[in-house]
Amino acid sequence: KKPVIIDCDPGYDDALALILALGNEKLDVRAITTCAGNQTGEKILKNALNIVSFLEKDITVALGAKKPLMRELEIAPEVHGETGLDGAELPEGNRVANKENAINLMKKIIMETDEKITIIVTGPLTNMALLLTLYPEVKDKIYEISIMGGACFGGNVTPCAEYNIKTDPEAAEIVFKSGIKIAMCGLDVTHRALFTKADFRDIRAIGNNTSELAYRILVAYSKYYEENTELEGIPVHDACAVAYAIDSSIFETKKCYVTVETKGEFTTGQTVVDYRDLLRKEKNVEVAFDIDKGAFLNLFKAAIRELP
Ligand code: BDR
Ligand code: CA
Repeated sequence: KKPVIIDCDPGYDDALALILALGNEKLDVRAITTCAGNQTGEKILKNALNIVSFLEKDITVALGAKKPLMRELEIAPEVHGETGLDGAELPEGNRVANKENAINLMKKIIMETDEKITIIVTGPLTNMALLLTLYPEVKDKIYEISIMGGACFGGNVTPCAEYNIKTDPEAAEIVFKSGIKIAMCGLDVTHRALFTKADFRDIRAIGNNTSELAYRILVAYSKYYEENTELEGIPVHDACAVAYAIDSSIFETKKCYVTVETKGEFTTGQTVVDYRDLLRKEKNVEVAFDIDKGAFLNLFKAAIRELP
């Protein structure tokens, strides 16, 4: 099994990403850490704890950064609602957070594990940047960071920027410059990982508690996309970063030099992807551009079948 830590801000698609990770037999989730993003630190921590409880898993959850490194937090209630999971009707669970903060917990787990660890990040990169800055010794013990964030072509919160990177561009810059192996599942690929209404029904037909929860999440999540985009389904962004850690062969990728715009007048938070290798810089990121949608959906359904 592949040891992983999931750093997230649940969030509808983060919740779906957790379902995929916790139900997949190839991943060994050592901890879930939260980073303020879609909602405030307290709300997303509560959501993460309730998801773990609902899925009946014994996985520790720790609270991380409550705001970006240098900027004010910009939450996304228009997408995920006031609770971060409006309409999901996730029952109040019985779990409490780890006493350790996310950064210290991550460091401890990374240093104590014999194997190198994969870190899946589905929120802003604040925790990750703090971890690498405070404890640079972890770098040699990280196998890969699989990130949902950024895009080569176009953004979703500004014409150029994707939400997770835009929320904490300085943190993203630290991570992209770290020299650690990075995979980026940005909007280029997540807008091809679309679940349609027929997929929602297929998922629900599995007929267990988790499939009902996933269905409610998908229905609630689709509201924003139906009202605001022309996409033919809803992009299950964060689950892509988990799917990459499970089986990268279902993705089409290209290794590129990627840097983050932190000072732009109009472009702050853009991931500048040197797709044509114009700068001849060392390629630091495996950028995903396409996914086998059928295989992705199958991974998701298989995970649900393994859960309560
Ligand atoms: C990302 O932004 C968040 O709202 C989602 O959870 C996802 O991580 C997509 O841009
Ligand atoms: Ca997220």
